[in-house]
Amino acid sequence: MKVLILGSGGREHALAWAVKRSPRVTEVVCAPGNGGIAQVARCVSVDLKDVDAMVRLAEAEQPALTIVGPELPLSLGVVDALQQRGFRVFGPTREAARLESSKAFAKQFMKRNKIPTANYAVCVSPAEFEKEIATFHPPIVVKADGLAAGKGVLICESRNTALEAAHGLFSGALLGAAEQQVVIEEFLEGDEVSFLCLSDGQHVAPLVPAQDHKRIGEGDTGPNTGGMGVYSTDSILEPGMTEWILHHIAEPTVRGMAEEGTPFVGVLYCGLMMTARGPEVLEYNARFGDPETQAILLRLESDLVDALEACIDGRLCDTRLRWTPGASACVVASSSGYPGSYKTGFPISGLAAAAQVPGVQVLHSGTARIGNQIVTSGGRVLGVTAAGDSLQQALDRAYQALAEIQFEGIYYRRDIGHRALAKKS
Ligand code: AMP
Ligand code: GLY
Repeated sequence: MKVLILGSGGREHALAWAVKRSPRVTEVVCAPGNGGIAQVARCVSVDLKDVDAMVRLAEAEQPALTIVGPELPLSLGVVDALQQRGFRVFGPTREAARLESSKAFAKQFMKRNKIPTANYAVCVSPAEFEKEIATFHPPIVVKADGLAAGKGVLICESRNTALEAAHGLFSGALLGAAEQQVVIEEFLEGDEVSFLCLSDGQHVAPLVPAQDHKRIGEGDTGPNTGGMGVYSTDSILEPGMTEWILHHIAEPTVRGMAEEGTPFVGVLYCGLMMTARGPEVLEYNARFGDPETQAILLRLESDLVDALEACIDGRLCDTRLRWTPGASACVVASSSGYPGSYKTGFPISGLAAAAQVPGVQVLHSGTARIGNQIVTSGGRVLGVTAAGDSLQQALDRAYQALAEIQFEGIYYRRDIGHRALAKKS
């Protein structure tokens, strides 16, 4: 069968790699893809903001299965448009993707469905914000309602800075577009866990848990990024915690969406804070995480295509995913300057030597192929991902592979997974 993957990052490279391993798959097409994905799939250009263009592509390619990677095409309704034309698509409809594309919707949904999350207020004007802020204690979390590629969350040390942030969001000064709604949230403390599960609209199947490192600097300092590294081990969650999260968070979410007439089919990504009160939802994403997917899929033993098709066909209850025990880790190599401005077009060397390290997959986030040369083309460039019997072994392998790789301005955090290692000892 032919599989079409929409997207162009490390997540899509991991998806293409995993899909290709299925004995049922004869061809993988990725749109638009990148320089690394081109080694495992045929890449064709498409504008991920243009639903009609994605539909035309599917009509030309006639894939047996389409997988949507990023949030933007989901929020624009690409799944609805493809389904209307009879294509089998893995991903939520536009209405179901509102769990990610509207933070106000997500908070109100969680309240209606008694899903644990931080206290909040949704405000539609600066005046309302000023009134509501009086009942929150600093630090105060201020969030844009809409998609903001990780830039829509501001942690404010005082009510005044929170008010300034809200003005910036309502006016458009902060994110470019003016927000109609701004969310105020109670600040939560604890460890963050990315808990992803597959959903067929009724049932859920958890993936292995992962922990992301969002800040650019070592020791979790500096500005937020799309994710600088991630690891996955079973011990991220205490025994019994997976069942608790399924019972109190993932299953009620999927049940609530079905009851409200917008069943959620796809990957439900619950960004959790493990607080003193128990796990609480920081955010939902309606898609695979990036770079979580790179680490998670390296541990998947089951056939990914079978699992995604079970979601589309509503028979996930018969599916049990099998995972390699042990650990995996993904360390992101970025361009100098990221998450601010950076230059691209630098040749990357050492990729073949890096791929020789046992257990390693070098997954590309922002690369392009020019002739026979792979060059940098984004802020996050590579996700060097490794599996191992232990977290230490997975990390050692990823860093050994990274030592082979060179490009001008290469930067990566040397402390991915270190907090977990320190906790153990
Ligand atoms: P979000 O896009 O909602 O996941 O937020 C991005 C990051 O901001 C999260 O991964 C957390 O590190 C932080 N964050 C969001 N909401 C809160 C909160 N209520 N309390 C503390 N940190 C938060
Ligand atoms: N790693 C965070 C995300 O995918 O949103």
